[in-house]
Amino acid sequence: MDIGSIKAQIDSEIGSISSPEALEELRVKYLGRRGLIAQLTGSIPNMPQVERAAFGQEVNALKNKITFLIDEKQKGITGKPAKPLLSSVDIGLPGISQEVGHLHPITKVTNEICAIFSQMGFAIVEGPEVETEYNNFTGLNIPLEHPSRDVFDTFYLKSGVQNSQLQTPNSKLLLRSHTSPVQIRVMKSRKPPLAVVVPGRVYRPDAVDASHSFMFHQIEGFVVDENIKFSDLKGTLEVIAKSVFGNKIKMRFRPHFFPFTEPSAEVDISCIICQGKGCSVCGQKGWLEILGSGMIHPRVFKNVGYKSGRYTGFAFGMGVERIAMLKYGIDDIRLFFENDLRFLKQF
Ligand code: PHE
Repeated sequence: MDIGSIKAQIDSEIGSISSPEALEELRVKYLGRRGLIAQLTGSIPNMPQVERAAFGQEVNALKNKITFLIDEKQKGITGKPAKPLLSSVDIGLPGISQEVGHLHPITKVTNEICAIFSQMGFAIVEGPEVETEYNNFTGLNIPLEHPSRDVFDTFYLKSGVQNSQLQTPNSKLLLRSHTSPVQIRVMKSRKPPLAVVVPGRVYRPDAVDASHSFMFHQIEGFVVDENIKFSDLKGTLEVIAKSVFGNKIKMRFRPHFFPFTEPSAEVDISCIICQGKGCSVCGQKGWLEILGSGMIHPRVFKNVGYKSGRYTGFAFGMGVERIAMLKYGIDDIRLFFENDLRFLKQF
C-alpha cells in the first residue's frame, strides 16, 4: 500500500471508531511492529538510493499524523490523554546501582604518606623498576661482595632484555631491590637543595609467606643541602610517624648499618596494638620496626659528582605493606595481592 492510500484510509477509518478497544486495534494496524507504517519503512532498503531520503521523510510525516489522530481520538473517547509512558514506571523504585571501584589499600597508604611529605615541601619522584646494577648497588656504595648483590637476592635480567634508555656499557640490568637507586638518579640530574620522596615497587626473590612477598612497595625519602643534620631526620620522621599512627606513639632510633648511610639507624615505633606492653604482633618487644634511615654517605655524594664536603643529607626507606598491615591490623601480606574483593572492599 502506498502513502497516499494509507493517508486516505486512516482518515476514513478513524471517524467510525468509538471504543478504546477498536482504537487500539487501529493503532496496531497502522503503528504496530508489523503495521502499515513499519511495512513502508521496511521497504526503504529496496528503493533506489536517490529516492530513499524523501520517501523516509514522507513516511515519518505520515506516522506523526497518525499518532496525532489516534491521540486525539483517545481524548475524545475517554476524556483523558493517552497514557504517558512514565506512569507505567514506578520512579520511586531503587535504581540499578553501578559498582564503583576504589583505590587499592596500598595505593591509599602510599598517597596518604606522600601527601604529608608534600605538605612539608617534598617533591614526589618516581624511577624505573628495571634499574642498572650501578644505580641499585655500586653508586650506593654497596660493594660487589655484599650479599644483597647475589643472584639469589636480586632478580637480574637476561642480557637480551635491554632498554636503550637504561643501558650503560658496564652495568647489568635488574629489577630494583629498593627505591634507593632513585637517590642516584635525582642527585645526578639535580642540584641541592633537594627534598624528594619516591614511592614505588621493588623486587626480591624471597619465598612468599605471611610476611614476605617477591614484590612489595617502598617509600624512599631524602633531603640534601648544606647543613642538614641528624636532628632534621629525626624531626621529619617524627612528623610522619605521628601523622600515620597517631600522636601517642613513641619512637626510637636503633643503630644499624647501611652502606649508603653513615651513621645509620633503624626506626621503631611503640607497638600500636599493646602500646608497648608486649604482644604477639610486636613479638613481646613492645616496639615495631618501621623503616631504615641515616645520613647519606659521603661516597654516595662523590659518586653523583657533588663537591666533597659541601653537602650533607639524610635518607630513609619504609615498606608500605608493613605500614599498611600495622595501620589496619592485617596479618598476611598475601592478602594485598590476591585481588579478593571481600578483602579489598573493606578499605
Ligand atoms: N634501601 C634500604 C632498604 O631497602 C632502606 C634505606 C633507605 C635505608 C634509605 C637507609 C636509607 O632496606
